Amino acid sequence: MAIHKVAVLGAGNMGSGIAQAFAQAGFDVHVRDVKPELVQKGRERIEGPLRKRVEQGKTSAAEVDGIMARLHGTTDVHEAVKDADLVIEAVFEDLKVKKEVFAEASKHAKAGAIFATNTSSLSVTDLAAATDRPRQVAGLHFFFPAAVNKLVEVVAGRETDPRVVDDLVKVSRAIGKVPIPTADAYGFAVNRFFVPWVNEAVRLLEEGVADVATIDAAAKEAFGIGMGPFELMNVTGVPISLHAERTLHAGFGAAYEPARRLVHQVEVEKKDWTLGGAPDPARFEAVKDRLLGVTFGIAARLVEEGVATAVDVDKGATVGLRWAKGPFAMMNAMGTKKALALVEKVHARWGASFPVSQELRRLGAANAPWDLPLVRLEKEGHVAVLTIDRPEALNALNPKVLHDLQKQVQAAAADPEVRVLVVTGEGQKAFIAGADIKEMATKSVADARRFTELGQRAIRELELCGKPVVAAVNGFAFGGGLELALACDIILASDKALFALPEVTLGIHPGFGGTQRLPRLVGPQKAKELIFTARRFDAAEAKALGLVLDVVPAADLMKRAMALANAIAKNAPIAVGLAKASVNRGLDVDLNTGLAYELEAVSQCFATEDQKGSMDAFVKKTTWEMKGK
Ligand code: CAA
Repeated sequence: MAIHKVAVLGAGNMGSGIAQAFAQAGFDVHVRDVKPELVQKGRERIEGPLRKRVEQGKTSAAEVDGIMARLHGTTDVHEAVKDADLVIEAVFEDLKVKKEVFAEASKHAKAGAIFATNTSSLSVTDLAAATDRPRQVAGLHFFFPAAVNKLVEVVAGRETDPRVVDDLVKVSRAIGKVPIPTADAYGFAVNRFFVPWVNEAVRLLEEGVADVATIDAAAKEAFGIGMGPFELMNVTGVPISLHAERTLHAGFGAAYEPARRLVHQVEVEKKDWTLGGAPDPARFEAVKDRLLGVTFGIAARLVEEGVATAVDVDKGATVGLRWAKGPFAMMNAMGTKKALALVEKVHARWGASFPVSQELRRLGAANAPWDLPLVRLEKEGHVAVLTIDRPEALNALNPKVLHDLQKQVQAAAADPEVRVLVVTGEGQKAFIAGADIKEMATKSVADARRFTELGQRAIRELELCGKPVVAAVNGFAFGGGLELALACDIILASDKALFALPEVTLGIHPGFGGTQRLPRLVGPQKAKELIFTARRFDAAEAKALGLVLDVVPAADLMKRAMALANAIAKNAPIAVGLAKASVNRGLDVDLNTGLAYELEAVSQCFATEDQKGSMDAFVKKTTWEMKGK
C-alpha cells in the first residue's frame, strides 16, 4: 500500500524525533500523547532546534514553517489514527502499555493501516497479538536521535506479511533513512552486539584489565569512533545500558549477564562514570582483543541465526553507531583467522551461551573473507533494481563495489525473467559520490591504471548488458557516479540530484568514460566546460542539457523509475534489446553502417516468438503477452 499519512503515538523524545523525520520528508503526521502539555512539549522539542538552524542560516524559516504545519498534535487517538496509513507507537518501553496503545489504535484505524512499534527490546510478535491485524504489524526501530540518525531496523514479527516489511523499507528510504530488515529476536541486530560491547567494557574495568580512560581510548582506536563506551553511557544514560543488557541476558543466558560493576554503578552509585585520566597504551591490546572478540562472535551468530545479513549488520554499525567499519569488514581487514581466534577465547570463557558461528569457523580455517556485497539486486516482476549500497561513503566506487556491480549486472543479464534494470544509490543523499578518493589517494600509476580499467569495464558491461538500463539519480552524482549514469540508457533525476565531474579539482580527469560519453550527449563544448571547471549543476540544468530525461520530486523518483521500467518491460524484450544495440552502435558509425546494422537487427526480430505472436494477435484482434523468446 502507499503510505501518505502517518500517526505517531507518543510525543516523547523518540516519538517527536520520528514525527519530525516524516514531516521533514513531506508527510502529514498526527502526533498523539495523553495530555495537551505533553503534546505541546513534543512540538517544542521539534521546533526549538529547527528554529535554531534558521538562526544559523542552515535552513529557511519557510522550510520550518512547512514542517511544523505538517505536524498535527492531539490527545485524541481516533483523531490521530483515523486516516493514517501507518501508525507508529513510540510510548514507554513496557509491554502492557504498548499493548494497550495498539489495542486502542486498532479500534480507530483503517482496516489496511500498518502498525509499527518502535520498541528496542520487546517482542514484535507479542505486540502484534494485541491488535486486530497481526499480519500488518512490524517493528520500526529508530535510533536516537530519531530525526537525525539514519538507521532504522525493520523488524518482521512471526506473522508479519512480507509486503508490510517491503512497504516499511520503502517508506524508511523515502524519509532518508537506511533501513535494515531484521528478525524478531532480542536486541534485533544492532543492540544484540552493541549492548554486550558496552557491557564487556565494564567487565574489563571490573576485572582490573584497564581503567576507564584506557578502555575508552582503546575502543576509540579499535572501532574508529568519537566516544568510548563509558563516555557513551554517560551521554545516553547508564541505567539504559543495564536495562538493555538485562533484556539480552533473559534471552541468551550467562554470556550476556550484566557486569556486576554496571549493576553497582546504577543501583548503588546512581551516577555517571567518572571519566578522565591518562590512558595506558600498554593495555590497549588486551582491551581491544576482548571488545573485538565479543563483537565478532555475536555479529557472526546474528547471520547464522538469520537475524540479519552481514551487510546489514555492518550497516547497523557504520550508519547507526558511526563506527568506521562494521564487524564483518573489520574481520576481513584483520583476517578471519585472527578474528576467529579472538572469538574462540570469549567462547572458552562462556561456552554454550556464546556459541561460535560455523561459518566463521569455516572461513577462519582458510583465513577467507566474508562475502559482503556492496551492490544489492532486488527483483520486482520483470525489473531488477541494482542499488549501490555503501551509504557510509556516499556509495563511492571502490574495487569491491565495481566487482559486485559486475557480478549483479551479469546475474540480471542472465536472468530470463529480468527485462529492465534500474540503478540507484542507497540513502537519499547520494546516487554515487564518485570513485573512492580515500582509496585512490595513494595509488601508483600502475595501480591507478588497473583501477580505472576495472571501472571502465564494469560500467561498459552495464552499458552492453543487452537490456535497457534506467538510472534513478537520487542525490550526488559526482565523478564516477555521473560517468556510470552516462552509460545508462535513460537517466531520471530527483529534484535534489546534483551533478559534477570534480576530477580536475583532485589532480586527475574523468576516467570512467566521462571524457567520451558526456561530449556525445551534450556536445563537446558544453562537456569541456563542465569537465574543465568541475562545477556542480542541478537536475534542472541537467535536463536542459539533455543529460537527464526528466526531473522528478525526490519522494516519487523510484515510483517513476519503476513505472518507466515496467512500461518498457511490457514490450518484446528481444526487440527492445536489439533496438538498444542499434541506437548505440549507430551513434558510433556513419549512417550507412548504422542502417546496415539496423537491417540485420530488425530482421532477427522475425525469428522470435514474440514477433509472430504479437503480429498474429493484431491480425486476429486478440492479445499476446510477450515471452522474451
Ligand atoms: N570517496 C571516498 N569517500 C567519500 C567520497 C568519495 N568520492 N565522497 C564522500 N565520501 C565519504 C566522506 O569522506 C565521508 O566519510 P566520513 O564520514 O568517514 O568522513 C562520507 O562519505 C560522507 O561524506 P561528507 O561528510 O563529505 O558529506 P557532505 O554532505 O558534507 O558532502 C559531497 C558530500 C559534496 C559529495 C562530498 O562528500 C564530496 O565532495 N565528495 C567527493 C566527490 C568527488 O570529488 N567525487 C569525484 C571522485 S574522483 C572520480 O570519480 C574519478 C573518476 O573519474 C573515476
